[in-house]
Amino acid sequence: MEVDSNKNLGSESVGSETLAETVHVPVMPDEVVEWMTGHSPQVIVDGTYGGGGHSALLVKKLPPGEGVVIGLDRDPLVSERVDSEQHDPRLTVFLGSYEKIPKALEAMEITKADAILLDVGLSSDQLADANRGFSFNADGPLDLRFDPENGDPASDWLAWKKEDEIANAIYQYGEERCSRRIAREIVMRRRKENPVKTVNDLVEICRRCVPTSKNHNIHPATRTFQALRIVVNDELGIMERTIKASPDWLSPGGRLVVISFHSLEDRIVKNAFRDDERWNVLTKKPLRPTDDEIRRNPRSRSAKLRVAELR
Ligand SMILES: C[S@@+](CC[C@H](N)C(=O)[O-])C[C@H]1O[C@@H](n2cnc3c(N)ncnc32)[C@H](O)[C@@H]1O
Repeated sequence: MEVDSNKNLGSESVGSETLAETVHVPVMPDEVVEWMTGHSPQVIVDGTYGGGGHSALLVKKLPPGEGVVIGLDRDPLVSERVDSEQHDPRLTVFLGSYEKIPKALEAMEITKADAILLDVGLSSDQLADANRGFSFNADGPLDLRFDPENGDPASDWLAWKKEDEIANAIYQYGEERCSRRIAREIVMRRRKENPVKTVNDLVEICRRCVPTSKNHNIHPATRTFQALRIVVNDELGIMERTIKASPDWLSPGGRLVVISFHSLEDRIVKNAFRDDERWNVLTKKPLRPTDDEIRRNPRSRSAKLRVAELR
C-alpha cells in the first residue's frame, strides 16, 4: 500500500513489504494522558506517532464526536501501518518530521493546537527490525535513519567524514570517552578498503576500543550507536528548533509535553522551557516512570517527562 500523498509532508512514499504489528509499549501512558488532556483540548498533536499507543489513548479522551488527534512520524513504515489499520476517524496521521507540525495543521485547516506530545527517539518496532541497524544485537546494514528514503545511512556518513569529525560526534552525542580510538579504527578500515558497512562491523570495533569497566554495565557499542543515530537524523537540532518554535503553534493555555531518554535531550527541553518567557513550566522537576512501570516496560527506565503551558 502506498502512503497517501495528501498526508505526506515532504518525504517520498515507499512500497511496502510485510507490515509487522507494533510491539511498542507507550511510555508513561497515565502521565501523558493526564498532562495532555487535563485542560480539555480539542486539537491534539502527537508529533512522534510510532506504534500509535499514546494517540490511541488520547483519542479516547476526546469528547464524543468532537476534536482531532493529528499524528506525525518520519518513518514511512509507520504511515504504511496506519493506512492498513482501522482507527478512529478523528485520528489523521502524516508522514513527516514533527518540525512540520504547522504544515499538518494547515492541511487540516486548523490554526492552533491545544496540546503537543513529543516522545522522542526510536520505537521498539524500529529496534526490532534488523534492516534498520538500530540494534547492535542483530546484524544488518548500518543505516540508523528514521526515514530510510531520505538522507544518508550511517555507513555512508562514516565512509565520508574526517576522522576528527567522527571522533567529535561520538564524543559529543554519545559522551563516549573512547571516541578517538573508535574513529581511528573506523578510518583504518576505510584505508584498507574494508569500510564499516554493517552493525557487526561497528560492534566489533567498539568491543575492541571500549573497556567494559569504563562503561559499567552498558554494551560497549551503546554510546557510539546513540551518537550516530543522533547525527544521521539531526535529532537534537530538530528537537531544539521545534521546541523553540512551538509556542507559535499552540493556543493560549496549550501544552507541550516532551518525553526524553538521555541527558542531551533533557537538557534541550529544560533550557528551552526556562529561556522563553511565554512558557509556564508545569513540571519543576522532570516526572519519571514508577518502579512498577519500569518492571513492566524496562524501556521506560530512562524516560523523563516535562510539561510547559503557553501563557
Ligand atoms: C518513542 S517512539 C514513539 C512511540 C509512540 N509515542 C507510541 O506510543 O507508540 C518515537 C517515534 O518518533 C519518530 N521520530 C523520530 N524523530 C522524529 C521526527 N523528527 N519527526 C517525527 N517523528 C520522529 C520515530 O520514527 C519513532 O517512530
